[in-house]
Amino acid sequence: MQNFTFHNPTRILFGQGCIADMAPEIPAGARVLITYGGGSVVRTGTLDEVRRALAGFTLLEFGGIEPNPTYETLMRAVTLARDEHIDFLLAVGGGSVIDGTKFIAAAVPFAGEPWDILARQAPVTTALPLGSVLTLPATGSEMNAGSVITRQSTQDKLFFISPLVFPRFSVLDPTKTYTLPPRHVANGVVDAFVHVMEQYLTYPVDAKVQDRFAEGLLMTLIEEGPRALAEPENYAVRANLMWTATLALNGLIGVGVPQDWSTHMLGHEITALHGLDHAQTLAIVLPAMLQVRRLAKRDKLLQYAARVWGLTEGDADQRIEAAIARTCDFFESLQVPTRLSSYGIGGEAITPLVAHLERHGMTALGERQDVGLECARQVYEQAL
Ligand code: NZQ
Repeated sequence: MQNFTFHNPTRILFGQGCIADMAPEIPAGARVLITYGGGSVVRTGTLDEVRRALAGFTLLEFGGIEPNPTYETLMRAVTLARDEHIDFLLAVGGGSVIDGTKFIAAAVPFAGEPWDILARQAPVTTALPLGSVLTLPATGSEMNAGSVITRQSTQDKLFFISPLVFPRFSVLDPTKTYTLPPRHVANGVVDAFVHVMEQYLTYPVDAKVQDRFAEGLLMTLIEEGPRALAEPENYAVRANLMWTATLALNGLIGVGVPQDWSTHMLGHEITALHGLDHAQTLAIVLPAMLQVRRLAKRDKLLQYAARVWGLTEGDADQRIEAAIARTCDFFESLQVPTRLSSYGIGGEAITPLVAHLERHGMTALGERQDVGLECARQVYEQAL
């Protein structure tokens, strides 16, 4: 196991009805800006529930944060927060709203052009405090320090990480996920699955707890993902899914082990250039990445095959082949296609995707930094 430091400061309020319990988590007298997306929280009543829970605070609202939140929209919220002397941000929504709110938190006190936080990885030295009410289990953003933002004008989708944007608290009420359309339920399962894989499927370092924890999360997703689609109002299923997605990317399973993240980086370019949902891009890239890098990942692929899919028959190559096929079948069974061509994207798209990776400095990815542009091209080709 590798050395590590682990600290996760986000307080979790989990369970039905716990929106009502969040007021003590916000400093008394705070001027709170509630941020939300395209209106689902208005339609479902979640926003009203939040307003009721925070009666007594000065509340302002900023809606319209889009999936794959854009710098252009978020900068309008930055202006509002500065003008209104906001001192606490509350994100109500999915990963896009939470990520966008993290950017607002860092940008409001930032001296200079806030895009530099993403494009130049300019250090974040101070940020507004934020909390979240999660409505879509997927990204783990509710309990991590990462944020992914898109600049529409240049088609750049970039991330930043800062401990200053960990949410102070996050409210996870599984009943708030009942209204999710099947597409976003499925997306959430795939996103969480791939988060685990990026931290698990590298090479062994004898990190037994992290491995078994990761395998448990994967098996829970395989079990509960289809059930969430079939039984949308099954509380136990939704609760298991919600907590699994949070644990998939709150840092715990990633400590002391090598991490990959190349699937995410190749996926971000597909969203930036072709507008696919984040999880759709992961469903396309992960199986292709495992195929192309099956030698480098051989030991962990065999472990994954045996422990997650119960594949113990046949020689090593057959077991690896079967594990990758099972992964594809799982995504497809959730109605998330795993080929670029299924989304109408052909071979002519590959050179621009690789060029975007180069422009963003994504030239040495993977757990051994050996996923260069040629390898990325092979992965995109494999995914056609
Ligand atoms: O915008 P509204 O109207 O709220 O509708 C949303 C949106 O259209 C809808 N929705 C959310 N909760 C709902 C609901 N509809 C009905 N009922 C509910 N309870 O779902 C749609 C998708 O929402 P979005 O927030 O975009 O999805 P997700 O949570 O998957 O977030 C995706 C974003 O997170 C980034 C992705 O790149 C993408 O931009 N990621 C962030 C990560 C992180 N911070 O660690 C890691 C992830 O891998 C990912 O990269």
